Amino acid sequence: MTSMSTKTDIRGVSAHVGETVRIGCWVNNKRSSGKIQFLQLRDGTGYIQGVVVKSEVSEEIWNDAKSLTQESSLYVTGIIREEPRSKSGYEMTVTGIEVLHITEDYPITPKEHGVDFLMDHRHLWLRSTKQRAVMIVRAQIVRAVREFFDTRGFTLMDPPILTPSSAEGTTELFHIKYFDEDAYLTQSGQLYMEAAAMALGKVYSFGPTFRAEKSKTRRHLIEFWMIEPEMAFVDLEESLEIQEQFVSHVVQSVLTNCKAELETLERDVTKLEQITGSFPRITYDEAIEFLNNNGFEVPWGEDFGAPHETAIANHYDKPVFITHYPAEIKAFYMKPDPNRPEVVLCADMIAPEGYGEIIGGSQRIDDPQLMEERFAEHNLTSDAYKWYMDLRKYGSVPHSGFGLGLERTVAWICGLDHVRETIPFPRMLYRLYP
Ligand code: 4AD
Repeated sequence: MTSMSTKTDIRGVSAHVGETVRIGCWVNNKRSSGKIQFLQLRDGTGYIQGVVVKSEVSEEIWNDAKSLTQESSLYVTGIIREEPRSKSGYEMTVTGIEVLHITEDYPITPKEHGVDFLMDHRHLWLRSTKQRAVMIVRAQIVRAVREFFDTRGFTLMDPPILTPSSAEGTTELFHIKYFDEDAYLTQSGQLYMEAAAMALGKVYSFGPTFRAEKSKTRRHLIEFWMIEPEMAFVDLEESLEIQEQFVSHVVQSVLTNCKAELETLERDVTKLEQITGSFPRITYDEAIEFLNNNGFEVPWGEDFGAPHETAIANHYDKPVFITHYPAEIKAFYMKPDPNRPEVVLCADMIAPEGYGEIIGGSQRIDDPQLMEERFAEHNLTSDAYKWYMDLRKYGSVPHSGFGLGLERTVAWICGLDHVRETIPFPRMLYRLYP
C-alpha cells in the first residue's frame, strides 16, 4: 500500500486509469506463468485481473501473491491500465498486497457440483458469477417495479405479515401462535390492499408471502415475494392494460440496464425484446378448446397445470392472458361475469417459453349481498372477515387488482429452469437451510 493510492471498487476503476488504487477483494481464480501471476479478483461490483510481475515487485509481495488461494481476501494496490483484451476493459499492475485471510479448501471449485451440494452451500454459491448476475437482475426488476408504480400515481402500502385470516384458501396456511390467538403468515396482502385502495385510490404492496404448499415443482417456493397493485374504479379490461405496460416496462428496463448480466446468463435477449405493446388474450373456454385439439383431454371446469400452460404459452412470443375461468376453481372474491355468472372476471398471465403463470388477478366483487353469499359458500364466517365486508358496506366501488410473483418473473427474464436460484436463500419443501 502506498499513501498515494485512492480506495475504489472494481466498478469504479475506469475513472482511475493511470492511477494507483486500493481495492478490497477476493481471489476468484489464479494462474501463473512462472514469472507472472494473474489474479482474477472480484469485489461484488465487478471483476478485474491483477498482474503481479516477479521482476517488478518485492519478494514479499511475490510470495504473498503466491499464498493466495481461491476466495482468499485481500486489499490489493496497483496501477489501473486499459486492456482491450480483458472482458472488463481494464487490468491492474499490482504493486502491493495486504493479505486479510487465506482460505483453505474452498468447497465450491470450478468443477461441476450437484444441485443439493450447491443448495447446502448457498451462502457461498452466491459468490459465483452466475448467481451474482441473477441477484443483480432481481434487484433491477425490483427497481423497475417501484419505478413503474411510483411514477403512475400509485402509493406503496404495506399489508401485515401476521394475519388472523386467509386470503387465498385455507389449505396452504402457515399457522402460528399469536399469544392466545391463532394467526397465519400472509398468503397475499390483497384483502388489506382492497381497504388501502378504498382509502388512497391506486396502491401497491411489495413484500414476502408464504404458502405451506406441498408442491415440489420448479415454480413453487414456500416463501416468495409478490407485487400486489389494487385499483379503485378500474375494471378487468383496464387492469389488463396496466399489466401489459407493467411487465413490458420491467423487461425493457432489465434489457437496458443489465446487458452484461444477461450475457453472463446466456439469455436469448431477442426473445425478451419482443415484450412490448399489447399481449394476446384467450378465454378459459378457448384455452380448453385449444388444449383438446392439441393432444390433451381437459374437461370444462378443471384447472390447468404446468404442461397445459406451457402448451398454450408456446403458441405465442409474448405473455398470454387466460381470462374468464370458471368461478368454482377461483378465489371467493372474484366478480362473476354479469353476462355469464358461472365464469369470473379474472386473468392469469402466462409467461412465454414455458416459465408458467407470473400474474394472477381479477376484478373484485363489489356487491355486498353477493359478497355475503360467497363468504357463506366458502365457510368464511369468522369475525376475522368482518372488516372486509365493511369495504362493501361503505362506498363500495368497482375495483381490480393483481399479484405478480417476483421469483417466477426473475426465472423467466434470466432464463432459469428453477425458481430456487432467483432468491438469495430459497425456502422450499424440505429446505430451510442455510
Ligand atoms: O395467483 P395467486 O395465488 O394470486 C394471489 O395471491 C392474489 N391475491 C393476487 C392479487 O390479485 N392481489 O398468486 C399470484 C402470483 C402467481 O401468478 C405467481 O407468480 C406467484 O404469485 N406465486 C408463487 N410464486 C412462487 N411460489 C409459489 N408457491 C407461488 N404461488 C404464487
